[in-house]
Amino acid sequence: MFWNTSEPHGLPRNPFKSCVIPRPIGWISTLAADGTPNLAPYSFFNGVADDPPMVMFSSGGAGVGTDVKDSISNVEATGEFVSAMVGFDHLDAMNESSASVAPDVDEFALAGLEMEPSEMVKAPRVKGAAINMECTYHDTIQLPAGQNHPGNRVCIGRVVGIHIRDDIMKDGFIDVAAFRPVARLGYMDYTTVDNIFTLMRPGAKG
Ligand SMILES: Cc1cc2nc3c(=O)[nH]c(=O)nc-3n(C[C@H](O)[C@H](O)[C@H](O)COP(=O)(O)O)c2cc1C
Repeated sequence: MFWNTSEPHGLPRNPFKSCVIPRPIGWISTLAADGTPNLAPYSFFNGVADDPPMVMFSSGGAGVGTDVKDSISNVEATGEFVSAMVGFDHLDAMNESSASVAPDVDEFALAGLEMEPSEMVKAPRVKGAAINMECTYHDTIQLPAGQNHPGNRVCIGRVVGIHIRDDIMKDGFIDVAAFRPVARLGYMDYTTVDNIFTLMRPGAKG
């Protein structure tokens, strides 16, 4: 099949989110300007550079009682955030933290999670998460409006500090099999990394 994306796809669900897969899940923690902690997962998320390390997440439709979701409005107001990477041990908590709730609701408490202070930013991090990346706000890019959507906002942050849980480090490398990162597939499907292989680039020395 071919879908001209300016026209109706005629399928039960939009297939796009099953085309760009698997997507890592950035679990974004922030503080509101009044100090309320906030936590939410974003799978339009990725690392976009490694020197300096930068990440982005893309914020979609309106949140409860606001024009934009809490995470991006908090980042823009405070200039910082933390992105945890979701391991399989936090699958349910991650899902619970995605509930659409008012800005004064603390999703850490909602999901039964504890916060831990960060080293370099005021935003808290998820205690026990395999990886927590402390970030400072770089910029927002407004994407064009869609047929049913006011347009996503891409929030870019600079990673200024990274916490890696000791039990997923092995001989100086991140042990992905121990980490078991969760990733988003299309529709309501997810995956974890359980098949790892090594491929050397042409000319690369092991
Ligand atoms: C696995 C997962 C991935 C998600 N990815 C996104 C995303 O990339 N962009 C987005 O706007 N919402 C995404 N959501 C929905 C948000 O998490 C949800 O709207 C949340 O309530 C936003 O919270 P906030 O207003 O505190 O930022 C995702 C939800 C789940 C469960």
